[in-house]
Amino acid sequence: MTELERKQERAPVPSDWTYAPAPEARDVVTLREQYGHFVGGEWLEPKETYTTISPATEEPLAEVGQATPEEVAAAVDAARSAYENGWSEIAPSERAKYLFRIARILQERSREFAVLESLNGGKPIKESRDVDLPLSAAHFFYYAGWADKLEYAFPNQRPRPLGVAGQIIPWNFPLLMLAWKIAPALAAGNTVVLKPAETTPLSALLFCDVLRQAELPPGVVNIVTGDGRTGAEIVKSDGVDKVAFTGSTDVGKAIQRELAGSGKKLTLELGGKAANIIFDDAALDQAVEGIINGIYFNQGHVCCAGSRLLVQESIYEPVVDKLKRRLTTLRVGDPLDKNTDVGAINSKQQLEKIQQLVASGAEEGAEIYQPPCRLPEKGYWFAPTVFTNVAQSYRIAQEEIFGPVLSILTFRTPEEAVEKANNTPYGLSAGVWTEKGSRILWMAERLRAGVVWANTYNRFDPSSPFGGYRESGFGREGGRHGLEPYLRLT
Ligand code: NAI
Ligand code: MG
Repeated sequence: MTELERKQERAPVPSDWTYAPAPEARDVVTLREQYGHFVGGEWLEPKETYTTISPATEEPLAEVGQATPEEVAAAVDAARSAYENGWSEIAPSERAKYLFRIARILQERSREFAVLESLNGGKPIKESRDVDLPLSAAHFFYYAGWADKLEYAFPNQRPRPLGVAGQIIPWNFPLLMLAWKIAPALAAGNTVVLKPAETTPLSALLFCDVLRQAELPPGVVNIVTGDGRTGAEIVKSDGVDKVAFTGSTDVGKAIQRELAGSGKKLTLELGGKAANIIFDDAALDQAVEGIINGIYFNQGHVCCAGSRLLVQESIYEPVVDKLKRRLTTLRVGDPLDKNTDVGAINSKQQLEKIQQLVASGAEEGAEIYQPPCRLPEKGYWFAPTVFTNVAQSYRIAQEEIFGPVLSILTFRTPEEAVEKANNTPYGLSAGVWTEKGSRILWMAERLRAGVVWANTYNRFDPSSPFGGYRESGFGREGGRHGLEPYLRLT
């Protein structure tokens, strides 16, 4: 008997072939019991606090501040003073130095940040580790490179910083949205007051540690936590010269109304209802992967999610069959397990919104499919869902669900695909799957979306501008375009 044969004889026959748990170590993160607001480089004891939890278990993680108007004012004052006393005047190559440092520290501490992001937000560790963290660092690296080259980015113009930027971010990509906001603002010479979303404050608070480690001058970046009330205070503060917001269309509209006539610069990155369009000549297995990535990535909590699938009629059946089969292989569960594909829904409020919209889809006459999967008992969970038989007028085809829910519609001709894809008040993103290059270009010209992906989906790079129009907002983040909202060009 050979060594191998002996081993095989001893090995027990597995009774089932499911994955063994592969939990990421949680102890790489040290949480404090309470966090304050990070103002002028110091921790300000919060007047009011609330508890932030893990949405996967409902376990309390820490107490964080609910910033009052006075606390917001202190943060804005600190940002103003840092702007006037040095930051706007230091050599641009010095600004770059800090941004490079931040990028490198994020890389060094990426495991810690990834675990924290999954713990507080519910997203699979696989995604925070492989997407959120590398992209966050990449954004700081990218804008670090621009800091001393602004004259080349905008030739024959004199790029000048605006002053204090007030930035409000959502809960779906907490650290990445922070990077999208802070990196270009600092590269352009502004100072910042940023508010993370109320359900996911912890990675922004850990980031304050990074700022200290990078020895960023006090007050250049200030972080206040709290809910919409804190956000509204930042927006209306006289000391803020520019507002950048990512979140819901309703709040975006309210902010635009508030700022109308104030002369403050504004960028809004709002919702979407993207069409992912599959033509009959597309590589179907790849397209199915793209559909899965388009809607189940980050539990569908993605503004550019491919939430409306448009399939050419002739391939409807094979696509739906393949998709359903693929759906049964998605592993839903513990965000900290390295095998998890779909994690927890970010909050109770978001879960209720998803449940409500899914119920409306069934009521209006769509056919629902969910793969068999056992959801954890505690925490906020929703099974990956597909709706067939969807009419364009249904709410599930019109409204942003922001959850793991796909609505499938069909089309016959490219013209019909364009018409259906554009039949939404949004205009953020779209996907096109076809072997034909000329058709990709033809479609991209006609789709009213800020980003059109061809034979791929949800691809991001710091050098590529991202943003929408119509009800998806205005202004671009990423690339040279992403600097413009933070500069006065004369
Ligand atoms: P939201 O727009 O209320 O929250 C986003 C951020 O804005 C948070 O930091 C929040 O504290 C802040 N905020 C809320 N009210 C504010 C106000 N009046 N002034 C200033 N800041 C304010 O989004 P919410 O309620 O968490 O989610 C509702 C829906 O919005 C989701 O179901 C989804 O459809 C959409 N959404 C879209 C996002 C995107 O990336 N485009 C991100 C988050 C939500
Ligand atoms: Mg809200």
